[in-house]
Amino acid sequence: MLKFFGFVDAFRQSVGSIIYILKRQQERMNDLLKRIIQDADALLITAGAGMGVDSGLPDFRGNDGFWNAYPQARMLGLSFIDLANPDWFIKDPQLAWAFYGHRLNLYRQTVPHEGFRWLLELGSSKPKGYFVATSNVDGQFQKAGFNETRIWEAHGSIHHMQCSKPHCEGIYSADTTEVHVDMEQFKALAPLPTCPTCKAIARPNILMFGDWFWQGERSDAQHERFITWLGTLGSSSLVIIELGAGTAIPTMRDLGERLAKTRGATLIHINPSDAQVPQGAYWLAVGALEGLRQLLRRDVSHTAQFLEQSNR
Ligand SMILES: NC(=O)c1ccc[n+]([C@@H]2O[C@H](COP(=O)([O-])OP(=O)(O)OC[C@H]3O[C@@H](n4cnc5c(N)ncnc54)[C@H](O)[C@@H]3O)[C@@H](O)[C@H]2O)c1
Ligand SMILES: [Zn+2]
Repeated sequence: MLKFFGFVDAFRQSVGSIIYILKRQQERMNDLLKRIIQDADALLITAGAGMGVDSGLPDFRGNDGFWNAYPQARMLGLSFIDLANPDWFIKDPQLAWAFYGHRLNLYRQTVPHEGFRWLLELGSSKPKGYFVATSNVDGQFQKAGFNETRIWEAHGSIHHMQCSKPHCEGIYSADTTEVHVDMEQFKALAPLPTCPTCKAIARPNILMFGDWFWQGERSDAQHERFITWLGTLGSSSLVIIELGAGTAIPTMRDLGERLAKTRGATLIHINPSDAQVPQGAYWLAVGALEGLRQLLRRDVSHTAQFLEQSNR
């Protein structure tokens, strides 16, 4: 029996030592990353849906993640890929606008978490400035004060609209668009948004699945500005902070990895899971807000206070 307790004690001590070593390693890595971030001439922020989770937004990670956010879609047997399809605006516009109208209202109401502001302060302090590349369509970087001309929304924006009919061209602001949704029925209520030119149903200017008629001009113009910015960097040092980018639709992951390779940039992934990071990159296995707090040296009480406020 005594032998057994001795074993338990030794086991506990070893676990304690391993945790201590891992913690020290993490602290050392964070110190190194803080130095790299502070010394870099330019900052690129790449972000996926996980960036908004600490502001209270859902990500759509896997079918379960999506269905937790939209249990009505589970009842209808529709996955994110099924629902994020432009055909619904023709076949069943009330359903299409239930999904996108709910998201439009949600993103409008959301207050970006404090990590956005820390990133903006950091990026604005860089001699070569910053750029944001995001697959998010939620407009949260603009809302947090990032310069519109320094954002590339690779999959478009829910705050912009286009016609659902092919060949009826023009992208316009959704600022005056209002959508009321009956979430129990999962149906948007009339009147639904219509195209100012031809009066057909309008849709968000978002790249959906099987979307041959997404009007990408706005996103393309942003991308051009992004490429121009990269061109101004020359041999300056670049740090890439990737936040909440998933692996299922790896637009942002691929971008960061490609630039890390071709430009020798330091790539830091902040993501509580999805740990597939390439050799030479760094990974902080925490949420976006906590990761930014650790790297951008914000005090805990400030963060805790903010979380408390946003949870009210
Ligand atoms: N807010 C939005 O605009 C929004 C939301 C959902 C989906 N989408 C669209 O759907 C697609 C989804 O791809 P995706 O990779 O962006 O999202 P995803 O839902 O596939 O993956 C989300 C990622 O965020 C991580 N994550 C979860 N909580 C986090 C936190 N607190 N902090 C940091 N990371 C966290 C997850 O581990 C995962 O890797 C994109 O094409 C995008 O356009 C957009
Ligand atoms: Zn039209």
